Amino acid sequence: MTVKIDFSSAPLPSKGTVALIIAGDKLGPTGVALDKTLGGALSRGMAAQGFKDKAGAAFSLYATGGYDRVTVISSGKAEKADDLTLTAAGGLLYVAFAHGESASVAVAVDSKNKNAAALVAHGAVLRSYRFDKYRTKLKAEDKPKLNKVTVHAKDLAAVKKAYGPLEAVNEGVEFTRNLVSEPPNVLHPVSYANQLKELTKLGLKVTVLDLAALKKLGMGSLISVALGSAIEPRVVAMEWNGGKKGDAPLAFLGKGVTFDTGGISIKPAANMDEMKWDMAGSGAVVGAMIALAKRKAKANVVGIVGLVENMPDGAATRPGDVVTSMSGQTIEILNTDAEGRLVLCDVLTYAQRTYKPKAMVDLATLTGAVIVALGTEQAAVLSNSDKLTKQLIDAGDKTGEKLWRLPLGESYHRDIDSPIADMKNIGNAREAGTVIGAVFLERFVENNTPWAHLDIAGMAWAYKDTAMCPKGASAYGVRLLDRLVADHFE
Ligand code: BES
Ligand code: MN
Ligand code: ZN
Repeated sequence: MTVKIDFSSAPLPSKGTVALIIAGDKLGPTGVALDKTLGGALSRGMAAQGFKDKAGAAFSLYATGGYDRVTVISSGKAEKADDLTLTAAGGLLYVAFAHGESASVAVAVDSKNKNAAALVAHGAVLRSYRFDKYRTKLKAEDKPKLNKVTVHAKDLAAVKKAYGPLEAVNEGVEFTRNLVSEPPNVLHPVSYANQLKELTKLGLKVTVLDLAALKKLGMGSLISVALGSAIEPRVVAMEWNGGKKGDAPLAFLGKGVTFDTGGISIKPAANMDEMKWDMAGSGAVVGAMIALAKRKAKANVVGIVGLVENMPDGAATRPGDVVTSMSGQTIEILNTDAEGRLVLCDVLTYAQRTYKPKAMVDLATLTGAVIVALGTEQAAVLSNSDKLTKQLIDAGDKTGEKLWRLPLGESYHRDIDSPIADMKNIGNAREAGTVIGAVFLERFVENNTPWAHLDIAGMAWAYKDTAMCPKGASAYGVRLLDRLVADHFE
């Protein structure tokens, strides 16, 4: 992230470029004090301008007495000053100052929320993400000038304590956004797995399964997706054991297709480059594991990612091929572009047989159909557990990484019955594509283990800037999974 956070115990910034975040359209106690030192110029200016209680509404003046620009920013309606609103306000603050005249801004927050200052810092950092590593000609004036936000707060110890876990989450988000942004010639299954090995330095136990290990386990379904690729598949498990010894872990599983051409059922050329982010589910799992490790979560969690590249080639899977999954169930592959489920089904089996998880959440950019259904506003959740679904939807509401439930059900299963194998990997028509993907995965859930499938195809990549995320890789799911653990598994 391009912005660093600094803290000051002076409740009021006394010089330089200053921002004050308020809830609603009225100055709070800090604002009133600042207004006083400025001879009432703030309140007069805001009244003259007709300052509104709209998120991002701003009033600026240039002051004397050691001050440069002083800006008041509203986080929105006063009664809606929840955690998410304050985090978003941090993003708005970043945008307001990113290309301004100063490299640093001092911020005070007038809010009843005791974590307000930490949340604002959290949002500012999230919004400051950039992926510039392949630009060799970026001019200084095209880069954001702002690189430091100093948070002013009386009770500094409390603010720092609240910021610690949020900083851990930001580091997870940054790692995920980097993974998802990387071009597919750089991030492929082998380089990806190698990068994950380094996470042992965070206290994660990392296990990398290479092709020989996957063959031995019988992951015929996952391996079938990689047959057309010059690069071997990998499965990587990352364990965080911060909970009670012997407690069954929660499992996060991710689709990590580092590039999806569709295989022999090849995709159209237009926008195929977007399929570099077909590993975003795995990216979210990695980011969440980093956040949990960095904030030393008191929970046992295992993250497992299936990493493959889906390419057409003489050795690639043909439509019509039948493969045997690790579960022993056979699959007739009728469309090699429905590959995510072929990867995840073996990861599901491996997770259950190896870790006996108490619950499982998988994340995948699984279907274009979910974009038709929900657009780029919400991901779909499909689950065999009402409880887990509610916990996930709640976590989504709190983090702004929203979820909407779609159904499962026996009748949908009839659609993937195969005439020659246990199942086929697509339905009979184009109907209910997201549900069909989920019921396929459901066939690999053993002993009614609580399981939820999140189809994040519409959420992984932001096509426009939002409050907490610049256009590009969103890292959707990292904050959601971290919240789920914090609220229900610690
Ligand atoms: N990775 C795609 C899904 C996708 C599409 C993600 C657009 C993001 C944006 C997935 O592997 C896929 O190709 N799914 C097929 C399934 C179909 C063949 C049953 C799809 O959605 O068309
Ligand atoms: Mn595909
Ligand atoms: Zn795919």
